[in-house]
Amino acid sequence: MIETTLIIFKPSSIARGLVGSILSRFEAKGLTIVGMKMMQLDEALLREHYAHLVDRPFFPSVISSMTATPVIVLALRGRDAIAVVRMLTGATNGREAAPGTIRGDFSMSNQENVIHASSSPDDAAAELKRFFAPGEIIEWTPDNLKFLYAASELQ
Ligand code: PPS
Repeated sequence: MIETTLIIFKPSSIARGLVGSILSRFEAKGLTIVGMKMMQLDEALLREHYAHLVDRPFFPSVISSMTATPVIVLALRGRDAIAVVRMLTGATNGREAAPGTIRGDFSMSNQENVIHASSSPDDAAAELKRFFAPGEIIEWTPDNLKFLYAASELQ
């Protein structure tokens, strides 16, 4: 299925100048950028986004980490994009993430793990709505799809 997924470039990638290196991996893989913007997160939005973590002892640290700089939110589209992006991203803890994955190559931390990526179709739908206003996801079809997929993979 053609899916759209949400990525957040966390302050740990913005401050370290890793946005271009990480974005180029998604582009090289063949995912289509359909939305991208910089924004400053606040506690209210983070309490919604990380609702499953608000009672965890490390949650105050997540808030200060995620508000330390602006972030960049990215919407990527492709066949099975949610699972593909999670595979490229690697395990949550950068120290445990496999070499070759984004976190495996760019992170030493559970918290400062450079990007967030939606974990399921339900999460992706909710997160895209949370971070992008109507009209900010651009519906367009790149010209090179026939060199990225077999016709049967685009149905
Ligand atoms: S969990 O623990 O299974 O509920 O975690 P998960 O749903 O994968 O979300 C974890 C996110 O919280 C951030 N974070 C930490 N996780 C675990 N331990 C510590 N100490 C911690 N500190 C921060 C972690 O980076 C995950 O963020 P995302 O944006 O989902 O990658």
